[in-house]
Parts: sequence; C-alpha cells; structure tokens
Amino acid sequence: MRIAVFAGDGIGPEVTQQAVRVLEALALPGLELVEGDVGAAAYRKHGHPLPAETLAIARSCDAILFGAVGDFDCDGLERHLRPEQAILGLRKELGLFANLRPATVFKGLEDLTTLRPEVAAKIDLLIVRELNGDVYFGEKGVRILEDGRRQGYDIMSYAEDEVRRIARTAFTAAMGRHKRLCSVDKANVLETSQLWRDVVIEVSAEFPEVHLSHMYVDNAAMQLVKNPGQFDVIVTGNLFGDILSDQASMCVGSIGLLASASLAEGTYGLYEPIHGSAPDIAGKGLANPMATILSAAMLLRHSYQMEAEASRIEAAVSKALAQGVRGGDLGGTAGTREIGDAVVAAL
Ligand code: NAI
Ligand code: MG
Repeated sequence: MRIAVFAGDGIGPEVTQQAVRVLEALALPGLELVEGDVGAAAYRKHGHPLPAETLAIARSCDAILFGAVGDFDCDGLERHLRPEQAILGLRKELGLFANLRPATVFKGLEDLTTLRPEVAAKIDLLIVRELNGDVYFGEKGVRILEDGRRQGYDIMSYAEDEVRRIARTAFTAAMGRHKRLCSVDKANVLETSQLWRDVVIEVSAEFPEVHLSHMYVDNAAMQLVKNPGQFDVIVTGNLFGDILSDQASMCVGSIGLLASASLAEGTYGLYEPIHGSAPDIAGKGLANPMATILSAAMLLRHSYQMEAEASRIEAAVSKALAQGVRGGDLGGTAGTREIGDAVVAAL
C-alpha cells in the first residue's frame, strides 16, 4: 500500500497529520506513506505549485491523500504559478474525471444544518460529478458581432464515452450503497443533456439491480432542499455538479466534516476535504481534521476495497461526535490534535 500524502498550505498540514495518525492506528500491513510538496509550499521550495518530483511521487503511488492548497500571498502570481494549479494539474495529469462527495448528517448534529432537523436527519447521499468535460472545457471566447456588440460564449459538450465512464462510476457506487441512482440533466432544453440521458440509460443495462431515475437540474436543486432524504446517488455533469455539490454540502452542516474523492479510471484516486486552506485559522491548531480523516476512509474504500476499515474510521468519527467532541466549526472548543486523539481512541 503506497499512498502519497500532499499536505499543502494553511491548515492542510495540520489536518493531514491527524488523518495520517488514523491510518497508522489501523496498522495496515505494508502501508507506506510518501510525502510530497504542493501549492504555495511547493512554489516557495521549488518555484512551482506542482513540481515534477511531486507528480512522480503521485504516479508511483496507488492513491493520494491531499490536504488543501491556497495562500493569499500568492494572489499576485501568474495564473500557472498559483497554488490552485496543483489540484488542477493533478486532475489533468492523472485523469481524475469523477468527483464523489458524500453527504450525511451525523447523529446529534441535525440542529446545526440549515434544514429542519427532521429533514436533515434523513440525508445520506452521494453526488458523483463529472470533472473533465462540459462547458468548462469547450471552445470559449468573446467575439464581436456584426453590429459591434461583444458576445461571450462557452460551448457545452459531452462525448458519449465521457458520459459512459462517469455513469459506470456512479452505478458502481450505487451498487455499494442503496442501489438507487438519479441522473440530473436538463434534457428538456439541452442536446448535450439528451445524449447524456440516452447514454446513462444504455449503461443502466449493465447494472440491472440499480433503480435509475432522471431529474431536471432545476427540480433537483429544489428537491435537495425540500426532501434530500429521497436521494441515494446523484450523477451529473461538471457544471450542474459544481453547483449541486456545494448546495448539498451546506445541507449537512459544517465544512469541517465533508470529504471528497476524485477518481481516475480503475482504482486510482485523490482524496481531500472539500474545505480550503483556511488561512484565518492556520497554524493555530483549531482546524477540524474530521473531513480529512473521512477522506482517508474514502481512500481505503475506493482505492483498496477496504470497506471494513473505511467503515471503522467513519464509525470512530461518529462516536467522537456523539461523545461531544466538537471543533470550532461545530460550535465546540476541541482543537485539531484533540479531535485526532478522540478519533484514534474511538477506533
Ligand atoms: P476555506 O474552506 O479555506 O475556509 C472557509 C471558512 O471555513 C473559513 O472561515 C475557515 O476558517 C473555515 N474552515 C474551513 N475548513 C475548516 C476546518 N477544517 N475546520 C474549521 N473551520 C474550517 O475557503 P476560503 O477561505 O474561501 O479559501 C481559502 C483558500 O483555500 C483559498 O486560497 C482557496 O483558493 C483555497 N481553497 C482550496 C481548496 C483545495 O485545496 N481543494 C478548496 C477550496 C478553497
Ligand atoms: Mg465549487
């Protein structure tokens, strides 16, 4: 088991350290952790946010545990030298095309969400967002029309193989959960979405046990707030997924609890908390490491098929929360190290 650990900037190193402690506490046979520099930390040391050495480490490993990148001191740098380029570069170089974000409300935290507690309590969903296509990567520009007006454009497109592979990822994820998949599109208006829907239906033949449904994105946004408990797995394109995944994350309370995976074809993946480098609390030992710890659980589940170990970590986080261990993001006073201690003890 060879795992790259890219801690990055701000609270990245603090939260990653606790996730590493949790992985080590599991005493997994053959576990090897290889550290590498990313983000502003890498820029200061090597002159680039994603140095060749780091990329080589990533390629030599089975998976990446990633902290966060971002540093306001780098705001003046040229775009290709900014810290965020580390994550964008890794996505591109490693073919990470599927972003998975689970959202659940832990017991006892129902009243911290923006929803009514009884609605929030039912949330247990996973959003699978395509990362490499759609309107972000199509032809784009600003042109001058015949009458002299400026017109901006971004072409939305998906090729059928791009839809097929994200659909397979989502169906496979659904097989490991409650076997319900909702595909979100805008097929009543967009040709891209009609093809998306057709291809998802084709792929469904490979997964007869999964119940497939379809929903327009505007309705999905409403349903996520009205009755999020109806969803198991949601699969959608890059643009709709960008928005819906942020929306879903806020339905469950704190940013300090939300993990994510960015998967390539096969078992390779990058796992990170959804939060950033939080410069406002960096270096103070105040960050909640639970999102990163839960990302490590996703890593074991997807890259190593270690379902039992992944569930053990999730249960330990749940137990620590039930014992009242709360970081500042949850209105508590527990520090980063203390939360790590509690999770390790609960394991
Ligand atoms: P942020 O997620 O870093 O922070 C937003 C707020 O949430 C802050 O008040 C922060 O203190 C709090 N917070 C975040 N994580 C927390 C945790 N684990 N425990 C307790 N409180 C927590 O987002 P922001 O401030 O917009 O961005 C800061 C930097 O992070 C920027 O440079 C941004 O580009 C970068 N960023 C990097 C990401 C990545 O590495 N994938 C993702 C999002 C932002
Ligand atoms: Mg976003």
